[in-house]
Amino acid sequence: MPGTGLFLTFEGIDGAGKSSHMAALADAFRAAGRAVVLTREPGGTPLAEKIRQLVLHDPMDALTEALLMFAARREHLTQIIVPALARGAVVLCDRFTDSTFAYQGGGRGFDWESLLILERLAQTLSGPQADLIHQTLLQPDLTLWFELPPAVAAQRLAGARVPDKFEAQPLAFFEAVHAGYARRAQQDPARFARIDANQPMAAVGQAVRAAVQARGWL
Ligand code: TYD
Repeated sequence: MPGTGLFLTFEGIDGAGKSSHMAALADAFRAAGRAVVLTREPGGTPLAEKIRQLVLHDPMDALTEALLMFAARREHLTQIIVPALARGAVVLCDRFTDSTFAYQGGGRGFDWESLLILERLAQTLSGPQADLIHQTLLQPDLTLWFELPPAVAAQRLAGARVPDKFEAQPLAFFEAVHAGYARRAQQDPARFARIDANQPMAAVGQAVRAAVQARGWL
């Protein structure tokens, strides 16, 4: 059925552990007979994955970084996300625009109002794409925010692997990223489900499932 897809995003500071829960939720939706698309940002298309390599590893000006994040997002939306939603699939996306507000807005201190303008530009659909999903400014149906105290996340990350540009940032950066997420959640509370990520993995998994079930989707 066209236009009946679901768009769920997974957010949180590095080390919050969202990736493993994405896979479990994908299995649950598949078991319920839904087609699932697992994807990520920045990335999700060959072009957007090239942009990912640049933004995660090369130092750059804050506006350049924000523009590249939204350029990758526009590509991902038009090529992958919108067509999948139009087919009725469940799209599970590891990070989306809230990451830009949290990292570039909160973490880097880039102007919030400018990000709102870029969001509107990049996520506005037109023509047949807008008709297909009955929405012009495309936003997730639900955002699962894995909330973890930044100090705990830093401990989890320590020594785990070679850090990318963002993971190598000091604790104060992640405190600001956390504040960015909190501000975003406050501005759109109905879209956000706050998941306490500071508990055993099984309990986090149950909280994720409960948030989805509460909306009648599983
Ligand atoms: P992440 O999604 O954590 O992938 P991995 O688990 O492979 O490291 O890494 C992506 C990084 O990019 C993360 O540190 C957050 C950052 N990021 C932004 O700064 N802005 C954005 O808009 C997005 C989508 C990600």
